[in-house]
Amino acid sequence: MPVTQANQVTPAQRLENVRYAIRDLACVADEVIQQGHKVLPLNVGDPLNFDFQTPPHIIEAAYKAMRDGKNGYAPSPGIPEALEAIRGEAARKGITTVQDVFVTSGVSETVDLCISALVNPGEDILTPKPDYPLYSAVLCKLGIALNPYDLNEDDAWQPELADIERKRTPRTRAIVLINPNNPTGSLCSRQMLEQIAEIARRHNLVVFADEIYDKLILPDSNGNITPHIAFASVAPDVPCITFGGMSKNYLVPGWRIGWGIVSGDAAALKPYTEGIHRLLRARLCANHPEQYAIKPALEGPQDHLIEVQRKLRSRRDLTQKWCESTPRISCVAPRGAFYAFPRIDIPESDEIFVKELIRQKHVMVVHGSGFGQKPGTQHFRIVFLPDEKTLTKAYAGIAEFIRERYGNA
Ligand SMILES: Cc1ncc(COP(=O)(O)O)c(C=O)c1O
Repeated sequence: MPVTQANQVTPAQRLENVRYAIRDLACVADEVIQQGHKVLPLNVGDPLNFDFQTPPHIIEAAYKAMRDGKNGYAPSPGIPEALEAIRGEAARKGITTVQDVFVTSGVSETVDLCISALVNPGEDILTPKPDYPLYSAVLCKLGIALNPYDLNEDDAWQPELADIERKRTPRTRAIVLINPNNPTGSLCSRQMLEQIAEIARRHNLVVFADEIYDKLILPDSNGNITPHIAFASVAPDVPCITFGGMSKNYLVPGWRIGWGIVSGDAAALKPYTEGIHRLLRARLCANHPEQYAIKPALEGPQDHLIEVQRKLRSRRDLTQKWCESTPRISCVAPRGAFYAFPRIDIPESDEIFVKELIRQKHVMVVHGSGFGQKPGTQHFRIVFLPDEKTLTKAYAGIAEFIRERYGNA
């Protein structure tokens, strides 16, 4: 083969700000694994990596669909029986003004598609800070400047309404609300949803209500469970797309099945919905056979959720106790999903903390700066999906690392 001087193939400049800290840390973990160590993974929100099992009837439904030859392209918006089941789910969530529903390859695709169909260059959308990094990645990809609003740690990580008002401009088109929240595990009160609705009404904003964790609700400190409140149920008039999916509630993240529920005023939403459908057609369809599991999942037995919630409660309690008894750590108790976002008082960046923790104690968490946080604060995100024995071992390693590196201030 002739030897030539190969020109570097440079990626697009718009990718410069794309960060996905959760997976970026994998390089550090690989170093440790190559040295022969086992890494305790408290970093990826995949229940199937731990002692959670997909309900068998859901697997059966997808398997049957494959055997029955449902292996071609599906209709672009999704198969009719899945769409009907999602409308049923919307009704159970109390959403009364549904204008449209569609199936996507995971909520990841819903996010990409709904933002792409709405926002022009020069416009923006308000995203929470800290956020789930996909939102900023999609915005970077589209060349749209980030406009993050703060979640207030002193108010159980609720959206900071004054900051939303401050950050909104006449070019702001939408606001993202992740509830229950990743990475903080917080849950919005009805009053908070009403106040956000009021801002959306006043400024003609679309609300993207990411409710992918809506069935994973944890009890408060008195042991009471407040059921999840769908944003669209308290604001039927506000243009809203509720994001939902199978990954977390039904324990099939690898299937890549999500959906959008469009609600609000029919006439106001028509052009936007048509735009979404243009993109849905352009990407042909979501995974086909797996769509046959949507109806059995949403309408069939929900028994697995009892077991999932029992495990999550016990692991959340263990995590919270550890946070409360460990020097330099404080944490707002998670009320949903399977994440805790403790604050840590250390004299160096949380990114160094996390990387050194992997190297020295082989425990993997994600640094708060990977999600965005208020300047001057440091955090890390824990995924408390592993069993109690694994969590106890990991937490002992983190406490030891803090003591050795920083002392018990
Ligand atoms: C808040 C949030 N939204 C969306 C997603 C993406 O979900 P999916 O697996 O359906 O693409 C995740 C995944 O962790 C998430 O935490």
